[in-house]
Amino acid sequence: MTQDELKDAVAAAAIDEIRPRLERDTILGVGTGSTANLFIDRLAELRHEFQGAVASSEATAKRLRQHGIEVFELNSTGTLPFYIDGADEIDLELRMIKGGGAALTREKIVAACAERFICIADASKRVATLGGFPLPVEVIPMARSYVARELVKLGADPVYREGVVTDNGNQIIDCYELMIEDPLAMEARINAIVGVVTNGLFAARGADVLLLGTEDGVKRF
Ligand code: 5RP
Repeated sequence: MTQDELKDAVAAAAIDEIRPRLERDTILGVGTGSTANLFIDRLAELRHEFQGAVASSEATAKRLRQHGIEVFELNSTGTLPFYIDGADEIDLELRMIKGGGAALTREKIVAACAERFICIADASKRVATLGGFPLPVEVIPMARSYVARELVKLGADPVYREGVVTDNGNQIIDCYELMIEDPLAMEARINAIVGVVTNGLFAARGADVLLLGTEDGVKRF
């Protein structure tokens, strides 16, 4: 199977996971990226079975609306029963690196408001230790160089993602060469640097369920 076919298989599995729990007033949290897009496309078929969704990015909001799914502001919804999103890496304890699509801050906020985070990913995303994928850090633009110097002190090789402006008007630094032995500590350490908005480690709030697309079918962890 191609990687896209694996992603579509987990998108379908996520639909099967949530469908029995959908009610007319259900509002879902929906992530960002190619796997989340496949999920949104399938979700469209169920749009009359739930109320709507909170989007983790402008791109996701646009795709949801194109499918006729109502998009709600998070401030008006309260706790969400599910957040469904992909990942750039996920470890055996369901901690993740996210933000390859630069949506990490809103993803983390929506995930924080969800009772269950369902991660949908193809098998290439599963790793023993996080850090092979460069860790994204969203920064206030004027702090970029300072934050980069502080990241070097943590052992990272920080690279400015040129030309990318986040939905929040900020910039992204990608951290290469980070050995992330303790994701929880690293998440807190990077967040403590002045000028950092969020980093892409989802350890304090990891996934609750992983639907992993493999050659042997979708596996649930
Ligand atoms: C976007 C993300 C995505 O979830 C992550 O990049 C995975 O994307 P894809 O499903 O395209 O592989 O964190 O900020």
